[in-house]
Amino acid sequence: MKILVTGGAGFIGSHISHWLRKAGHEIAIIDNLRTGKQTNVPADVPLYEADIRDQARLAELFAKERPQVIVHQAALANVRESMQDPITYAEVNIIGALHLLELAKKYNCRKFVFASTGGAVYGEGFSETERILPFTEDSPPQPKDNYGANKLSCEYYIDLYSQNYDLPYVILRYSNVYGPRQDAKGEAGVIAIFTGAMLAAHPTHITGDGAQTRDFIYVDDIARANVLAVAGDVTGIYNVGTGQPTDINTIHRLLAELTDYRLKPSHLPAPASEVRATYLDSSKAGQELGWEAEVDLREGLRRTVEWARKNQKQEC
Ligand SMILES: NC(=O)c1ccc[n+]([C@@H]2O[C@H](COP(=O)([O-])OP(=O)(O)OC[C@H]3O[C@@H](n4cnc5c(N)ncnc54)[C@H](O)[C@@H]3O)[C@@H](O)[C@H]2O)c1
Repeated sequence: MKILVTGGAGFIGSHISHWLRKAGHEIAIIDNLRTGKQTNVPADVPLYEADIRDQARLAELFAKERPQVIVHQAALANVRESMQDPITYAEVNIIGALHLLELAKKYNCRKFVFASTGGAVYGEGFSETERILPFTEDSPPQPKDNYGANKLSCEYYIDLYSQNYDLPYVILRYSNVYGPRQDAKGEAGVIAIFTGAMLAAHPTHITGDGAQTRDFIYVDDIARANVLAVAGDVTGIYNVGTGQPTDINTIHRLLAELTDYRLKPSHLPAPASEVRATYLDSSKAGQELGWEAEVDLREGLRRTVEWARKNQKQEC
């Protein structure tokens, strides 16, 4: 199948692109290279340096490539930045997605696959009386930041396009994704940040007491979920996480062991928008997509550190 991957030069999108090609699909990538890198894209894959806010340019590219499926990964994905610049975030994350939906409608695409977020869509996860963990797809969405609100808006639009224009979709609500190629300089991926700092023997910082928990999933598992989403007949929303909460202190300890890091982390005040605990029940993806997480945390961390070691050496 001919698949358009937006954000395919980025961390997750580049792994998805690799796995889609391995499954026999033909792909083209749209990415404005804001955080993505040309070096993440193999030379024989068409990479169009374009912005998803630019509707005319997207229209040109659809006319040229005529994709059958859209796998939409391009986004601005920094929670703190989303609070500082809500307008740009809405332009890229909501209007950009709408441009793609309009073109998917025009070209009668077979499916729209969308990268949503379990962490930011469910938020803190309180019902009126209690906190409910792990989150299922039926848990009430309660975004705590503009990024989560952007993603939830997209989910509503995608469902509307499905109802009104018969566009099948799969929305994947990722938990916290980590693995090779994640940017150690940003603030999204604590595993990438700790790994980069530890290998360089720099100090590390933990926000709050470090007892906050996340559901860390290895990027190959996310890429496989996207391949299954493209192939399957189902339409709907699916959590994709391990179902295992891990606290930040534990991540620090495991990575310190893998990197022979001896320094103690310092603790910084936790930002007000930081969610205390989140992890996902992905049994629906198991039943309907045939997906489950395969790479356990220790193995995923080992692969990530190995990649970072090689990569840092190359950069020196
Ligand atoms: N990393 C995570 O833990 C996580 C968790 C949940 C959801 N997600 C979602 O997964 C997707 C991929 O995230 P990632 O972690 O790989 O981040 P990333 O920044 O590596 O990838 C995003 C890609 O989108 C591109 N992009 C940004 N703005 C663009 C624009 N206006 N036009 C065209 N391209 C643009 C960037 O250059 C980059 O290549 C995003 O939609 C993100 O919201 C990520």
